[in-house]
Parts: sequence; structure tokens; C-alpha cells
Amino acid sequence: MEKFIVHGPCKLKGEVNISGAKNAAVAILPATLLVKGKCHLENVPNISDIRAYVEILESLGSKIEYLSKNEMIIDNTDISSAIASSELTSKFRASYYLLGALLGRFDKVQISLPGGCNLGARPIDQHIKVFEKLGAKVEVRSGNVYATRTQTLKGTAIFLDIVSVGATMNAILAATLAEGTTIIENVAKEPHIVDLANFLNSMGAKIKGAGTDTIKITGVKELHQVSSYSIIPDQIETGTFMVAAAATCGDVLIKNCIPKHMEPITAKLLEAGANVEEFADSIRVSMDKKPNAFTVKTSPYPGFPTDMQPQICILLAISTGTGMIVENIWESRFQYTDELVKMGADISAHGTTAIVKGVDKLYSAPVRSHDLRAGAAMIIAGLVADGNTEIYDIHHILRGYEDITTKFANLGANIEYIQEDD
Ligand code: UD1
Repeated sequence: MEKFIVHGPCKLKGEVNISGAKNAAVAILPATLLVKGKCHLENVPNISDIRAYVEILESLGSKIEYLSKNEMIIDNTDISSAIASSELTSKFRASYYLLGALLGRFDKVQISLPGGCNLGARPIDQHIKVFEKLGAKVEVRSGNVYATRTQTLKGTAIFLDIVSVGATMNAILAATLAEGTTIIENVAKEPHIVDLANFLNSMGAKIKGAGTDTIKITGVKELHQVSSYSIIPDQIETGTFMVAAAATCGDVLIKNCIPKHMEPITAKLLEAGANVEEFADSIRVSMDKKPNAFTVKTSPYPGFPTDMQPQICILLAISTGTGMIVENIWESRFQYTDELVKMGADISAHGTTAIVKGVDKLYSAPVRSHDLRAGAAMIIAGLVADGNTEIYDIHHILRGYEDITTKFANLGANIEYIQEDD
């Protein structure tokens, strides 16, 4: 069994470099399937979700060469199969991008229903709607998704009923090689959507409007090889270090990030009383007092990201007043609050709302990482708390944070990684 032991309390001080964005990389890796040639990717995060994607691509026939831990060449000249092993795809959510990417190239695609963090019901009706509108037939049977087409997908107008990152990504992937023009309205605007569109455009796709409510895609017959594409920095990793700096009353320069992407988080940190200085590609966060309480409501970009909700809760847990979190994306995202209560936090969560009363101190306790971002919150809580906080189920954290113990160690934290025999 793996666990982290976080030795607290600790004031984080120093500099940290942000890795490539997980949520962009998990769409860009399958997007390479749209080109019958080589793609050279840089700033690829070295995390377990990416290693899993590499395994899936290799099982389909991709030849992948790592030039360094964050740089790879993917050669998809000879893809032999569009049936992805259910053992591999069921492990994580982003495997559903294989549907959009492979439908651009093959008549029959099969993956198993995707897994991922347990955040509540995770429907894919909008993905299915996109594929059907483009002319594919989709069936969900015995835990598998089967998508078939009898001819090239045909561009059309699509209105998404709900703002969905995943469905927007899949629509872009499937429409890139479709015949004619696709106009998708009510799309998500997250930075990783813009990055996917930029990557595909660098290979000859014609995608306009990514980052706005409407995306227009003029289908092209084929894409060409790309010499080198660098994935954007991770918005959520940046936010995690910003909150960790503030919660520990530290002073941290967060390098290789895009301050514009951080605006909703910066705004909340300023409300909490932190100092935030923005530079061209770095942000410095420091704090010299207990945080003020505030209200956070999650919403699609440019709103406050659901993926930062557990981390920002630590600031409220040690604030001078009573704050509120409203979760508008995932219904089961408050499971982690039970773990914080074990550490002395005063939180009452019901439905989509959590009321958080600030306490003087958090204390160490054995806690679970319920999901990826909840795990990051447990680390921040452990850094704030008195004593040694043991965090279990850390495989969730390793899915999305590269070199997390080293990065925190460089800021003065002591987080031990322990592997015990079961
Ligand atoms: C969502 C988040 C994303 C985050 C990820 C993991 C938003 C808009 N998306 O992305 O920032 O990184 O979770 O935490 O904040 N939905 C449907 N039908 C569908 C697809 C989605 O009803 O076919 C609903 C979901 O239940 C959810 C909402 O739409 O309530 C947003 O889902 P979506 O953006 O697709 O999820 P992810 O792509 O996983």
C-alpha cells in the first residue's frame, strides 16, 4: 500500500515550475491519431494518466519514443485497430476522447465506458449527441461504447444542451476530418480546449472560435505531421501551489504558468487577503495572516474551476469567519470534507453546498484521497496541520501531479512517500 506522510506545519517558500496541463495532454495524445504520421510533443506531464494513455495508444499500433520524460514523438502511421482494450480504457475518464479521434479515421470504434474520479454520475449523452449529429451510430451495450459510420462524418450545426468540456473536445476531434462545416454552440471555453484547437490547427485543421461560446470547424481531408508542439502549463497545478502558498502563510514564485488562466483563483486569494503578483509567465503568492472567509461557486471557465474547489476549502477551513462553497458541476465532490473534519475542520456539506467555519488549527489524522483534487487538498491540509498527516489512496494524486513530493520539498516541505507490503 502506498501513502504519503506530510510533516506539518510548514510555511512554503521558494520557486516551483509548473508542468504541462494534464487536461490538455489527455486530449492531445488521442488527437495525434488523426494524423497518419509523426507528432512531436513537448511539455507533456509525466503522470500516471499520461502513461496510461501511452499504453492505450501503443495497444492500437502507435509507436511512441520518449526523448525525455516530458517530450515524445508519436508515430501513428500504422494504426492497426480502433478497438481499445477495456482493461485500459475503463481506468480513466479521458479515454472517451478515443471515440472522437478514432471516428475521424475508422468506420468502427469500440471503447469501454470510461472510469475516472468518483465525482458522481458522469453521463456521456452530449458526446453521443455530437457523434450522431455528425452521422455516426452509437450504442452503449454491456459497459462498452460502439460507434460506427458508413461514410465520412458530415459537418452540421450542433447545440450542446450543457456546457461540457469532454463533449466539446470530442466534437472538435470528430469534426476536424468531417466533410463540410460544423458549428458547435454552447461549448466549453477552458484553456485546454483552446490548446487542443491550436494543436490541431498546427497540423492543418481549420478550427475557429475556441475559447468562445461557438466553435466553427471547416473539415479538412487530412492533417500533416507537426514538427513540435508544446502543451500549455497546467492551470490546476498552478492553482494548487497558489492556494498551498497562501494556506501555509508562505511566499512562493510559481513559474511557467499563464496568469490569465488563473484569474478566478487569483480573485479568491485576494478576497482571502493574500498578496498575488502577476508577471509575464509566473505568479508570486504570499500571505502573512489568517485568511478572510469568502464564498466560492464553481462554474465552467472563466468561472471558478470545480477542480480547485477542494484545495480552496483549506483556506476557508482555517479562515477567520464562515465561508460557503457551492459546487455546480459534480454532485459528489464534497466527500473529502469528512476527511477534513477528522483533522478538526468545521464543515457541514449538504447537496451542492458546504458551509465552512474557520477553526484556529487543523490537526494531523489518517485521511483518504477520495479523488485527484481531493488528494491535493489533503496535502495542503497536512502542510497546515500540526503533526504527521498520513494520506492513503495516493494513486489518485499521482494521476495528475508530476513530481509532487519533490516540488513541495523544494519549497521546504517534508512529504514522505511510503510503500508498504499489504
Ligand atoms: C469536468 C469539468 C472540468 C474538470 C473535470 C474533472 C467543467 C465544465 N468541466 O470536465 O473542468 O476538469 O470535470 O473534474 O467544469 N454532462 C452531461 N452530459 C454529458 C457530459 C457532461 O450532462 O454528456 C454534465 C456532467 O454531468 C457535469 C457537466 O456536464 O455536470 C460538466 O461535465 P464535463 O465538462 O463534460 O466533464 P469533464 O469533461 O469531465
